[in-house]
Amino acid sequence: MDQDIQEVLYSKEYLAGIVEELGRKISEDYKDKNLLMVSVLKGSVVFMADLMRAVTIPCSIDFMSVSSYGSGTKSSGVVKIIKDLDINLEGKDLLLVEDILDSGKTLQYIRDMLQQRHPRSIRLCTLFDKPDRRTVDITADYFGAVVPDAFIVGYGLDYDEKYRNLPYVGILKPEVYEK
Ligand code: IMP
Ligand code: MG
Repeated sequence: MDQDIQEVLYSKEYLAGIVEELGRKISEDYKDKNLLMVSVLKGSVVFMADLMRAVTIPCSIDFMSVSSYGSGTKSSGVVKIIKDLDINLEGKDLLLVEDILDSGKTLQYIRDMLQQRHPRSIRLCTLFDKPDRRTVDITADYFGAVVPDAFIVGYGLDYDEKYRNLPYVGILKPEVYEK
């Protein structure tokens, strides 16, 4: 896999530092709340697993799966629910955990849909933010790092379901998806 990476952006150690800091902030902000962390599968699963252990207050977790991408590198804007939440959102302070906020279409759709189930609050936490590519009006309440407009993989992020298991994050060589 390493040979398909053009440049390493974030090492394993650097990512651990980012996640630790986010966990500290979230623990502080939610200490008197009823935190429910919802991971949007599958990209955020590695981030979620580390972030929940960096959170030091009681919380519950749930998962939801949507598809917006197919195997391309750009959002189609069509979001399909593959797996819905198990937990009832009433009275919960929901924190949506995403891998990357790109066009924003996926998170906007999910947030608007979950808002209708009357959680007490909803906030967004994304590991990476690509603000240059935003097409809808959405900002993350918590983000780990702002990334350049390039296609990145690793630490949960995939291209065509591969590279999620890379322990670091890097830019994928364009020839991998152009061929
Ligand atoms: P959005 O709807 O355009 O914001 O797309 C968000 C989703 O697209 C993320 O959850 C990722 O699954 C995927 N995505 C966007 N940019 C990248 C990238 O650079 N690498 C891998 N996946 C990406
Ligand atoms: Mg993906």
